[in-house]
Amino acid sequence: MDSNLMKRAAGIAACNWVKDGMAVGLGTGSTVSHTVVELGRLISDEGLSIVGVPTSIATRDLALSVGVPLVGLSDVEILDLVIDGTDEFDPSFSLIKGGGGALTREKIVAQRSRAMLVVADETKQVQVLGTFPLPVEVLPFAWEVTMSRLSEICPGKVKLRGASQPFVTDNGGYIIDCDYQGVISNPKLLESEILCVSGVVEVGLFCGICDAVVMAGGKGVETLLKENGRIV
Ligand code: 5RP
Repeated sequence: MDSNLMKRAAGIAACNWVKDGMAVGLGTGSTVSHTVVELGRLISDEGLSIVGVPTSIATRDLALSVGVPLVGLSDVEILDLVIDGTDEFDPSFSLIKGGGGALTREKIVAQRSRAMLVVADETKQVQVLGTFPLPVEVLPFAWEVTMSRLSEICPGKVKLRGASQPFVTDNGGYIIDCDYQGVISNPKLLESEILCVSGVVEVGLFCGICDAVVMAGGKGVETLLKENGRIV
């Protein structure tokens, strides 16, 4: 199966976990965009009744275009579920996210959810996080200083995202991609170390948040459930 078909299969299968009356966090990226489109279809064709909270402007626009009603995160006490993509996930369901630059809103929404379901194709499954460059959102103010500090705790290259112009996030921040050369041995510890660097807004390590992964691969779609996770 080609990668886009796998993303579509995973994205659509995740909708089985969405029930009437839920408030659902809507992640960002090409995989979860299939979830959003399918939710729009379920609402219009099958009368599903939900509200969504988008994690980016792109997802907000997509959700509105397919008829998913939206509310703000502060309008709901808690979300029942967030569905989002990932760049990597490991056996303990720790994630690297932020390939699309939406990591800060994605983490805020995920932390406000009763459970997190990730949608992915099988290429995202790794034994150890760290091959995908770790995205860190930083303030534009003196970003070079923040980047230099980040380079002291990263074994590989650190790079401002963007070609001739910096990539600007929905929050007005910049992204610094940090090459951990295939090995992040302690994601939770690294997350706290990076968050201690002044100028850092958020880091794309999600530890202890993801409960299950709907993964599509050559053999079809399977749901991997974290032991003692919040999805059963
Ligand atoms: C955006 C993300 C995405 O979920 C992640 O990059 C995966 O994207 P895709 O589904 O397009 O491969 O974290 O910030």
